[in-house]
Amino acid sequence: MLEKFVDPLPIMNHIQPTALINNQPYYEVTMIEMMQKLHRDLPPTKIWGYNGQYPGPTFRVWKNQPIHVLWKNELPQTHFLPLDRTIHGAGQGRPEVRTVVHLHGGVTPHASDGYPEAWFTKGFQQVGPYFTKGLYTYPNHQDATALWYHDHAMGITRLNIYAGLAGMYIIHDEEEQRLDLPTFPYEIPLIIQDRSFNRDGSLFYPSQPDVPVPGVHPSAVPEFFADTILVNGKVWPYLEVEQGIYRFRLLNGSNARFYRISLSNGLPFVQIGTDQGLLPSPVEVPKLILAPAERADVLVDFRSSDTDTMIMLNDAETSFPNGKKPDPHTTGTVMQFRIKSQDSTGSLSRIPSRLTSVPTLLEKQTNKTRRLILNRRMDWYGRHIHLLDNHLWNEPVSENPSLWSMETWSLINVTDATHPIHLHLVRFQILDRQTFDQNLYKKEGHIVPAGPRRRPEPTEQGWKDTVRANPGEITRIIVPFGPYTGLFVWHCHILEHEDHEMMRPYYVWPS
Ligand code: C2O
Ligand code: CU
Ligand code: CU
Repeated sequence: MLEKFVDPLPIMNHIQPTALINNQPYYEVTMIEMMQKLHRDLPPTKIWGYNGQYPGPTFRVWKNQPIHVLWKNELPQTHFLPLDRTIHGAGQGRPEVRTVVHLHGGVTPHASDGYPEAWFTKGFQQVGPYFTKGLYTYPNHQDATALWYHDHAMGITRLNIYAGLAGMYIIHDEEEQRLDLPTFPYEIPLIIQDRSFNRDGSLFYPSQPDVPVPGVHPSAVPEFFADTILVNGKVWPYLEVEQGIYRFRLLNGSNARFYRISLSNGLPFVQIGTDQGLLPSPVEVPKLILAPAERADVLVDFRSSDTDTMIMLNDAETSFPNGKKPDPHTTGTVMQFRIKSQDSTGSLSRIPSRLTSVPTLLEKQTNKTRRLILNRRMDWYGRHIHLLDNHLWNEPVSENPSLWSMETWSLINVTDATHPIHLHLVRFQILDRQTFDQNLYKKEGHIVPAGPRRRPEPTEQGWKDTVRANPGEITRIIVPFGPYTGLFVWHCHILEHEDHEMMRPYYVWPS
């Protein structure tokens, strides 16, 4: 087993614009294959990186300052991870290596959003049926928060992200600036991911499920939980901190693994923001749950620590929440913090008590309610697939809100695991969660609520773009649609589910 805490936490560099277009910053990012050291004792690992880095470089942008990015594919023509040709969009005739970049949480017009069928190959030699253009524009007309960019190519997203195609994208604004929160180097993105390795240091991704599927090889797996935890692309790293307050921008960038993190000496996290921006006021919690793609903006005050070192632990089950507990020696450990004796000079002294105002969206303000079942059935080969409201990806659009309308989406999860549901284009609020009688549903197919409606956790009471829809529960979200019309997607962010039919197009119509 790899020794823990022998490599310092890498901090991704900030990407710089190379030119201006209409006086707005222009960036170029090239996806290439690289060898990178992921642990002291591992030979270099083959990865795919944006600008040759895994994770990719961090964008730092300002609210209302649009930027342009040319995403270029210079990857080899063959995939180094097991490609399943039976998965929708990845069939024979499609190039093996296709990429398209999505800015997760970005309020982005369709043409720059990275629609899964808008993929392109090396040098734009081949493009998907929905390809719009190579140069993307991000308007950044949205509140300060941490977004992330990652690959979204139809049918191979799980492989492309696992290979390394993900990075952080941080939006700042004046309101946030006024709070005087810690800034770099006291503000640090932490991208948490799991990976498994072969002896030679190469990435391991399974080529078939535990029970092989007759006639399909390689075959997609129901979900993949790897056995080693990486933060910012290093296995079980350590970070030296000063005695002060740090701001961590946490992102779960894993394919399927959830995390429930805590600090070994009991030091709390003070959560100040969600996926889509600041919370109304800070929320102090001993543990934080992060589903794939969820982010948390947290402060940690290392002055109140009574130990010199502490470990970030994870005790989230796989599958979540009814599966096995992680092994404390491997996936139960995330990283280590070491406190230096010197005081921190660069960070703030006190945590502000008010952060921002978040208007509460009310159910009575919504124009429409959609009941959307999250369920499971078999595909052609006898494999389980998860579906959104019983529809396959290529069925006609069924979610078609009009511009500026507000809808309640009732996500009714009749499966036995949590699905993190993400909508492109919009931010939303969680209205409530309510259990229903699962036995009755199994017997008669009716959804009968069986408990009170519970408000979201205090750490979820802000704007979100990804919500945990727990098994046996109805999760209601209120979604204002806008500011753009056009074709977008919504999906489960467990990447193996997303690639295997748990994704749907949706269309915002002009009102
Ligand atoms: Cu983070 Cu549609 O994705
Ligand atoms: Cu997204
Ligand atoms: Cu799912």
